[in-house]
Amino acid sequence: MRALVTGGAGFIGSHLVDALLARGWEVVALDNLFTGRRSNVAHLADEPRFRLVEGDVCDARLVEELTCGCDVVFHLAAVVGVTHVIANPLAAMRTNVLGTENVLAAAYRHRVRVCVASSSEVYGQSEQVPFVEDGPRVLGPTWIPRWSYATAKALDEHLCFAYRDQGLEVSVVRYFNAYGPRTDPQGYGSVVARFVNQALSAEPLTVLGDGQQTRSFTYVSDSVEGTILAGTMPAALGEVLNLGSEEEITIEHLALEVIALTGSRSRLTYVPYEAAYGADFAEPRRRAPDGSKARRLIGFEPRVSLRDGLRRTIEWFRG
Ligand SMILES: NC(=O)c1ccc[n+]([C@@H]2O[C@H](COP(=O)([O-])OP(=O)(O)OC[C@H]3O[C@@H](n4cnc5c(N)ncnc54)[C@H](O)[C@@H]3O)[C@@H](O)[C@H]2O)c1
Repeated sequence: MRALVTGGAGFIGSHLVDALLARGWEVVALDNLFTGRRSNVAHLADEPRFRLVEGDVCDARLVEELTCGCDVVFHLAAVVGVTHVIANPLAAMRTNVLGTENVLAAAYRHRVRVCVASSSEVYGQSEQVPFVEDGPRVLGPTWIPRWSYATAKALDEHLCFAYRDQGLEVSVVRYFNAYGPRTDPQGYGSVVARFVNQALSAEPLTVLGDGQQTRSFTYVSDSVEGTILAGTMPAALGEVLNLGSEEEITIEHLALEVIALTGSRSRLTYVPYEAAYGADFAEPRRRAPDGSKARRLIGFEPRVSLRDGLRRTIEWFRG
């Protein structure tokens, strides 16, 4: 089997590349190294079944060329993380919408199956938690850049369905806070990475808001396993699937857990959202998936507990 992994030098993408290679696939990764890093795939330098192409997913010709001859395209390339999206919403939207259109159009022309990475962000501030795939989406006003990411991902999903109706074999996965080794060490886009860094350097852990907002954290090997199932199993065709742990915890609790597991002397410091992201910022209060659809259709079940996943992540950061 041969795969194209867009965003393959990124956090989830590079783990997906490893998992596909371990299953005997040939893999090409397309990445412009915006947030991806060569070091994420440096261990594959001598792997003949792997190739990293440095390029832009908005380059339609390149995407077309790399798609041709593949069995599956896993489309993960995106501008990710609130900080990047707020810093340059236009560039983020271009990549996150045009890039996806390019991938879907090329896959459609070459009759290649696609699995597209979407996000729990599409549920926005819906209060119907846990989120069910066919549940409501509640997004804030369009002049708040933060919502452009969720809107772009939702438009990606609409594009997937439009192509599905033309005959494309496509599945969509909605990730819920993946974490693990290779998350951005600066902590952009990952509260786990930020907390672990702060705890290991004995700095205060910056908890946004009152810390009572909840999230569910999914260890990256689980996100990757679900992605491969969604990209290969017939039952996932034409479907959107939540891929996430159903264990929901408050951010304050997560911070305390990281302190306990690192043995750090750090304390918590509470920072208002406005101070971190500006006056217009809005954040979903609770976020957790209903995993029953993924369980039923593809047998997806996260295996790594939060404590084990945090231990492995802390180990990597120490290294
Ligand atoms: N990590 C999570 O918890 C999470 C949650 C929801 C959705 N997602 C989605 O999963 C996918 C992977 O995210 P990640 O967490 O690994 O983040 P990441 O930033 O590590 O991965 C994104 C990759 O896309 C690459 N990229 C960005 N713009 C590009 C372009 N124009 N052309 C080619 N490559 C480009 C980046 O360099 C990076 O390697 C993204 O689509 C993201 O939206 C992730």
